Amino acid sequence: MEKLFFPSTQRRLRANQHIRELTATVRLSHKSFIQPVFIDQSLSYPRTVEGLLGIEVHTIHSAIEHITNCIENGISSFLLFPVPQKKQEKQFDFSFATLLIHTIKKEFGDAVWIAADLCLCSYTTHGHCGILNDDHSKLLNSKTVDVLNHYALQLAQAGANCIAPSDMMDGRIAAIRTSLDALGFDTVSIMSYASKFSSQFYGPFRDACNSAPISKGLQNRKTYQISPFNSNDAIASALRDEKEGADVLMVKPAMLYTDIIAKLKQLTYKPIAAYHVSGEYAAIELLAEKGLLNREAAHLEVWAALQRSGADIIISYAAQNAKTWIENLDY
Ligand code: PBG
Repeated sequence: MEKLFFPSTQRRLRANQHIRELTATVRLSHKSFIQPVFIDQSLSYPRTVEGLLGIEVHTIHSAIEHITNCIENGISSFLLFPVPQKKQEKQFDFSFATLLIHTIKKEFGDAVWIAADLCLCSYTTHGHCGILNDDHSKLLNSKTVDVLNHYALQLAQAGANCIAPSDMMDGRIAAIRTSLDALGFDTVSIMSYASKFSSQFYGPFRDACNSAPISKGLQNRKTYQISPFNSNDAIASALRDEKEGADVLMVKPAMLYTDIIAKLKQLTYKPIAAYHVSGEYAAIELLAEKGLLNREAAHLEVWAALQRSGADIIISYAAQNAKTWIENLDY
């Protein structure tokens, strides 16, 4: 029988930081990151959000300061979530969102890349992502797409570099691409929330954006977001969005759906963005608060997992720390 020697080559390749660094198969860079930003029209001062340590809901003024800080920390790409003061059922006022983008672009110009989340959940009285029928039992697809399309054009006109539809209606990517092109916004890209699951992990976000579904009819988003129990739907939706003209395909949440990221990677050459969502982020923060894990190391571990599975872009509430943390990364 062959004699086995220990330590074997595996242990030798783990023996010190140098060799672990040399042999690492994942190299993280802050250049892959997008920072989400919440901005609420009804605030006079920024406010904190339960579970989202280090994150604030901003005023336009404080958002500009926050973006300035991010730029100093090497982050120049942002995903904006404007929250209007007034909730409505049908006629929506998008002027706060457009003012926000206009102000940011005026301040920073091409030094920033601005993606605008496109959804109605923080606009509607009932917190659903679109227009409901009279008895609130159904979300109406075409009516919602018409409104979103109109909203997308206003965001593009205000200077958004990218439109990120998160509503999950059918046909919205084709509709938006067609109207953007028709009006000369052919360089504005579309990052589709392509594989977006109906998840428990959006809790802190809904607090930040005041967007939890509270309708007496539809109680949750299961009739328009993807079931966690159906991976075929996630892949089919992403490939459908690609065909309709999406430039970037997003998988969301991220950590729980690395199987979807890995599978999609085999099926598309479009870049894949993984959104490490508010509940996933908060889970780390709350464990860290209890002394049960190291916050920084845990985020780095998650990012490594997302990159290993095939994510090209990572959307994380900790993006603002990515550069420092990655520089100090102990492989
Ligand atoms: C809006 C939207 C949601 C998120 C991004 N866009 C919440 C939802 O669908 O209820 C979640 C992001 C997060 O939890 O960090 N439709």
